[in-house]
Amino acid sequence: MITTQQIESMKSKQKIVMLTAYDYPTAKLMDGIVDIILIGDSLGMVVLGYENTTKVTMQDMIRATEAVSRGAKNALIVGDMPIGTYDNEKDALENANLLLKAGAHAVKIERKPEIAEFLVKNGIDVMGHIGLTPQTVTNFKVQGKDEESAKKLLEEAKLMDKAGCFSLVLECIPSNLAKKITETVSIPTIGIGAGMYCDGQVLVTHDILGLFDAFKPKFVKRYAEIGNEMRKVFEQYAKEVREGKFPSDEFSFH
Ligand code: KIV
Repeated sequence: MITTQQIESMKSKQKIVMLTAYDYPTAKLMDGIVDIILIGDSLGMVVLGYENTTKVTMQDMIRATEAVSRGAKNALIVGDMPIGTYDNEKDALENANLLLKAGAHAVKIERKPEIAEFLVKNGIDVMGHIGLTPQTVTNFKVQGKDEESAKKLLEEAKLMDKAGCFSLVLECIPSNLAKKITETVSIPTIGIGAGMYCDGQVLVTHDILGLFDAFKPKFVKRYAEIGNEMRKVFEQYAKEVREGKFPSDEFSFH
């Protein structure tokens, strides 16, 4: 199993590959290929059909984490903490431990360096997340574009590093700012919409597979159109059942 220490040691040497998974078969398929599997709270949108991630509960994350951990035996498994579950130290520790019990090796939180520090002090490995943080941001645009907000993001990255996070997700920020942050902090940065200079990359699996079509951010590369393939299968199955062609003798017991 890949450890958080191994991920840290990959900084500047080897690109870190991370994808999201929310179920057993997907985790099993990507295990051994990616370094980190994130059970992202993007689950709320790409699996549960919510408009954003704010309705995701600990129950949702626990169930998904259990399924992923049954499928993945090599990758580092990181569980996202949903909004409202790490507002104070007590909740953060309780809920982080629930994710670890469900099979995660580490947790991810958006911003809040003081909570990250508290969790780390209590023996929990934490991945930080700054930039466009979907749980709290109101402006779903590239973050840190002007000098002042870029400076704030750099400071925030330093705080997450100082808090003891083992890695830091940078979401939707200009590539030059991501480069500066990556060169400044001691921990690996993992970009999503943050350009080519990060130590690693993450995307939402449903996005790269073409399984989520509500919208497509500029930073998403579609590697396949599995959604279209699935629709074709459903149509063929429906046609064959309606025409009495399936099940044929081959699929029947005698
Ligand atoms: O929820 C998620 O999938 C995430 C990644 C996009 C980083 O936070």
